[in-house]
Amino acid sequence: MVTEEEIRKALEEVKYPGFTRNIVSFGMVKKIGIEDSTVDLVLGLTTSDKTVTERIRLDVEAALRKVSGIKTVNLTIHLQNPQIPAQGPGQQAGIPGVRHAVAVASGKGGVGKSTVSVNLAIALQQSGARVGLLDCDVYGPSIPMMMGVHQKPGIAGDKLEPLSNFGIRLMSMGFLVDEDSPVIWRGPMIMKTVQQFSRNVNWGKLDYLIIDLPPGTGDTQLSLCQTLPLSGAVMVTTPQEVALIDVRKAAAMFRKVNVPILGIVENMSTFICPSDQKRYDIFGAGGGRREAERTGVPFLGEIPITMEIRQGGDQGLPVMVAAPESIPGKAFAGVAQALRRQLEGDSGSRAGPS
Ligand SMILES: Nc1ncnc2c1ncn2[C@@H]1O[C@H](COP(=O)(O)OP(=O)(O)OP(=O)(O)O)[C@@H](O)[C@H]1O
Ligand SMILES: [Mg+2]
Repeated sequence: MVTEEEIRKALEEVKYPGFTRNIVSFGMVKKIGIEDSTVDLVLGLTTSDKTVTERIRLDVEAALRKVSGIKTVNLTIHLQNPQIPAQGPGQQAGIPGVRHAVAVASGKGGVGKSTVSVNLAIALQQSGARVGLLDCDVYGPSIPMMMGVHQKPGIAGDKLEPLSNFGIRLMSMGFLVDEDSPVIWRGPMIMKTVQQFSRNVNWGKLDYLIIDLPPGTGDTQLSLCQTLPLSGAVMVTTPQEVALIDVRKAAAMFRKVNVPILGIVENMSTFICPSDQKRYDIFGAGGGRREAERTGVPFLGEIPITMEIRQGGDQGLPVMVAAPESIPGKAFAGVAQALRRQLEGDSGSRAGPS
């Protein structure tokens, strides 16, 4: 008689469409029942994309046909409610106390994701919200430095106590790893660590938890999007075509796991020369807005390229703290307001209920 082990092995050949990981590793196989030569298989998927379900059905059937001893396969696919945001395959329930978890992502590295995460978090806090910042960039955690925080978090009971600066509660991979040694994380490790991070941190009550994701659209990022219960994602891009191409990939990734895209932020959009106030479009102009219009995603705003922003990052004193009334400060405040509008569905000026 065929064994559960053999079936599981065969199912490991079935990749989630578009990704290198298989449906077993994603935790989508919910039940394997065997009676003589009949296999009852239950899968749990979260997708509104019928082609994904159909592809998996065909691939599962093909994989099980190769296993000897199986005559009949009864395949049931449970679709978890794809209307509820952030319920991707294998995803967890919401983070206790957190109203909205928002990922900040980009396909391309170095476009200013961490800079936007930090200043956006502070801008939201300045508009009256309770805000946390979770640095999930396991490859290059830079949030603690940008936030001027160098201590390690303590533990109270069985929970990690977030650190805090500028009124923002903060947790980062950077607190848990040696600053000088690069970390090589594998998918399952990331999933586990991030689960601990997000669920075992004593966040208290938060209106918004801003989550800085690592750059790219690989399995690590996909794992993160599935592990974290996200209300949505903010995409950061520069105006350049190379960055926009990667933003499209990232958008496709979020769609796959049913995470709504809350909007696009164009960073490093214009340089205003301090000496003559002339505008220079170093990386081109308007690419983020055009991409937003093309894809029907809200455009949240443009952040200029300025010395203050870069210095703020390097010195651990974000521009949103040092100079909220400056041009970049106002730009971040505008993005924060646009984001709140997306999340709250109103003017964006309301603080969340406690
Ligand atoms: N609008 C801006 N004006 C000036 N400098 C900026 C701006 N945005 C980001 N920078 C600078 O660019 C560098 C890269 O930014 P940041 O680290 O935020 O990017 P990232 O997308 O998080 O990078 P990574 O992909 O490595 O995580 C930093 O030195 C930062 O200070
Ligand atoms: Mg970063």
